[in-house]
Amino acid sequence: MKKRVGIFVSGGGSNMRALVEDMGRDHPAEPVVVVSNNPHARGITWAQDAGLATVVVDHYPFGRDRAAFEAAITEALAPHDLDLICLAGFMRVLTAGFVTHWRDRMLNIHPSLLPKYRGLHTHARALEAGDTEHGCTVHLVTPELDDGPVLGQVRVPIHAGDTPDDLAARVLVQEHRLYPAVLRRYAAGDRAPLML
Ligand code: GRF
Repeated sequence: MKKRVGIFVSGGGSNMRALVEDMGRDHPAEPVVVVSNNPHARGITWAQDAGLATVVVDHYPFGRDRAAFEAAITEALAPHDLDLICLAGFMRVLTAGFVTHWRDRMLNIHPSLLPKYRGLHTHARALEAGDTEHGCTVHLVTPELDDGPVLGQVRVPIHAGDTPDDLAARVLVQEHRLYPAVLRRYAAGDRAPLML
């Protein structure tokens, strides 16, 4: 039986698209639903046009009540009977309760070489620090932000004169290689870290 995957997005969803397109080719998993906290996410429009089921739960009406927001997502996800969740540019921090429920079944992509630069603005911080290399990481999600076991990484060089946007574009190309490769292995039961 193929693993049933839900993909969470907040914006454009280019990582989600890379995952969906790779799962179209002889794969141990299948995309079942795309989920967003943002009703205007371009990733949701793409998913709908691609004929995928979508779930939108706008987080604004819930204010600071993360548990209520997540309860609404959990209720909307129930019919989809998911095995795995992939966070792909999902910009809401999830509670320990939600993360623990999905322990070892929820992956995330982060645009840095974790454990360096957890959180936001990773490209600018790597440049400010004078680093010579940067990259991206796929990891299992744990209650600590951007802290879980690493499942894969790709390194990219930092060139003199790079801007944060230059670096973001160079890293994003590698994200679209790494995330599908890691999901394909993880869904087949292989947890060994993949260094591309
Ligand atoms: C990616 O760089 C991802 O690592 C980060 O947010 C960006 C989102 O890109 N979390 P997209 O929505 O997948 O295009």
